[in-house]
Amino acid sequence: MLWEDKAILLSILLVYSSPQTLAAGEKLDDVQCAEINNTRWHEYRQNMGKLEVQYLLLTRKNPDCAQRFDQDYVGNTTSYFNTSRPTKVIVHGYRALGRKPSWVTDLAQALLRAQDANVVVVDWIYGASFAYNLVVQNYKEVALQISVLINQLQKHGCKLESFHFIGISLGAHVAGFVGTLFEGRIGRITGLDPAGPMFKDADVFDRLDPTDALFVEAIHTDSDYFGISIPVGHVDFFLNGGMDQAGCVRSRFASMYGYVICDHMRALHVYMSALNGTCPLMGIPCSSYEDFLQGSCLDCGVFKGRCPVIGLKENSGIATSPIPEKQKVFLLTTSSSPFCAHHILLRLEVSPLDKRAEVEVTLLTGNEETEHRFRLQTDVTVYQKVLAHPAALCEISSIRLKNTGARLYRQGDIHIKSVCVSELPQPRHEEPLCVNHIDIRRGVPWSHDFVQVCGTL
Ligand SMILES: *[C@@H]1O[C@H](CO)[C@@H](O)[C@H](O)[C@H]1NC(C)=O
Ligand SMILES: *[C@@H]1O[C@H](CO)[C@@H](O)[C@H](O)[C@H]1NC(C)=O
Ligand SMILES: *[C@@H]1O[C@H](CO)[C@@H](O)[C@H](O)[C@H]1NC(C)=O
Ligand SMILES: *[C@@H]1O[C@H](CO)[C@@H](O)[C@H](O)[C@H]1NC(C)=O
Repeated sequence: MLWEDKAILLSILLVYSSPQTLAAGEKLDDVQCAEINNTRWHEYRQNMGKLEVQYLLLTRKNPDCAQRFDQDYVGNTTSYFNTSRPTKVIVHGYRALGRKPSWVTDLAQALLRAQDANVVVVDWIYGASFAYNLVVQNYKEVALQISVLINQLQKHGCKLESFHFIGISLGAHVAGFVGTLFEGRIGRITGLDPAGPMFKDADVFDRLDPTDALFVEAIHTDSDYFGISIPVGHVDFFLNGGMDQAGCVRSRFASMYGYVICDHMRALHVYMSALNGTCPLMGIPCSSYEDFLQGSCLDCGVFKGRCPVIGLKENSGIATSPIPEKQKVFLLTTSSSPFCAHHILLRLEVSPLDKRAEVEVTLLTGNEETEHRFRLQTDVTVYQKVLAHPAALCEISSIRLKNTGARLYRQGDIHIKSVCVSELPQPRHEEPLCVNHIDIRRGVPWSHDFVQVCGTL
């Protein structure tokens, strides 16, 4: 589907599905909670050319009830902004129909749970609505206005490196341009599936790139449609290859909405989940997703063994210096929160075959199963595949093999020299778990139970 078609479909769907839940929450005392405004089409037309950028502030003192914020409020005793704390700046992206984004409070609250910070939400809904190409013309002006605010905050004692921008989609490029205006001296930019259309071939001046902040990271989840396919940060996390996300499949009506925007929004949901910190979302450096899936990249040796993790760790946990640039890292996720999966490398070695064959391998942990079907060729004897399994290697209770060849070509027995499982990133000197010398006959499943203990004694 062409990007334009998808955008039109998106617009249609948003009419029916846009949630209106940027809840102001409970009101504090008599104070009116500030909200992002919706734009209506006639207001938008009246407003043409005016961006009406405004800011909302959320802190641990008011996580449910945003305060209106701008430079006049800094230092005012009524404002909860604290110049000695780090500041997170959330920048939303394109809003097809002018509806305020529903996830802003969730993201702000997830940030506040993780860090005692000022969370400033940039509301540029007037500039971000309706025609995508006009919105793209607006984003630099928005960045310019934000930079005026940052300048004022600096005068009140905020350090440039204490600013962390979190930009969603087009918001990532807004953040990138703010970074350009400060010559890369702001602390950090996180791009959540940075927008692709009209940016992929843009000059680095015009889009997010590693020179925009001391540390730039991006999470890619829809790089074939709304997201950008090229690395734009110091480290770029490509989730499930960066294009199609687990659980975002196209199927009839129920998930039409999901089909259109699910992949793109997954970056945001995974990031919020990572902020909760229930489990590590760790990427493994590799040159391509195909190589990663084939088990060509086993560890984070280039980072002295410390794999980059999604979240608030300094430089995503990378401790080597200089920080790499445009380093692609790959990880698999599950289809729902908290999204973490264990990367299990499955390795199969067979005796040479005289006919093509097929073997299905299933890993079991409790009720959870992960399976993979290997298509065996006559001229290859070793097969590898990295799988996303919900449990750790030490929790795999059994492995099943099935000779699933088509009846038509009368596949015979397959002699498996060894089937091995190991977990990535692979600690040095750790032996994989193997079962050797198995003959599997068509239609007769084989299985083996592992007796394992988790944890080191
Ligand atoms: C947004 O709404 C508030 C009231 O809810 C209003 O005071 C403010 O002027 C509006 N902002 C814009 C840009 O229309
Ligand atoms: C600053 O605080 C004073 C008194 O607390 C208040 O009257 C004034 O309106 C505040 N200014 C702003 C911009 O909120
Ligand atoms: C501002 O933040 C600093 C550092 O966290 C803290 O020590 C101070 O008490 C805060 N000030 C206010 C008014 O909350
Ligand atoms: C994060 O944790 C909070 C509180 O424990 C929970 O309500 C929320 O659903 C979690 N969010 C995600 C994305 O995991």
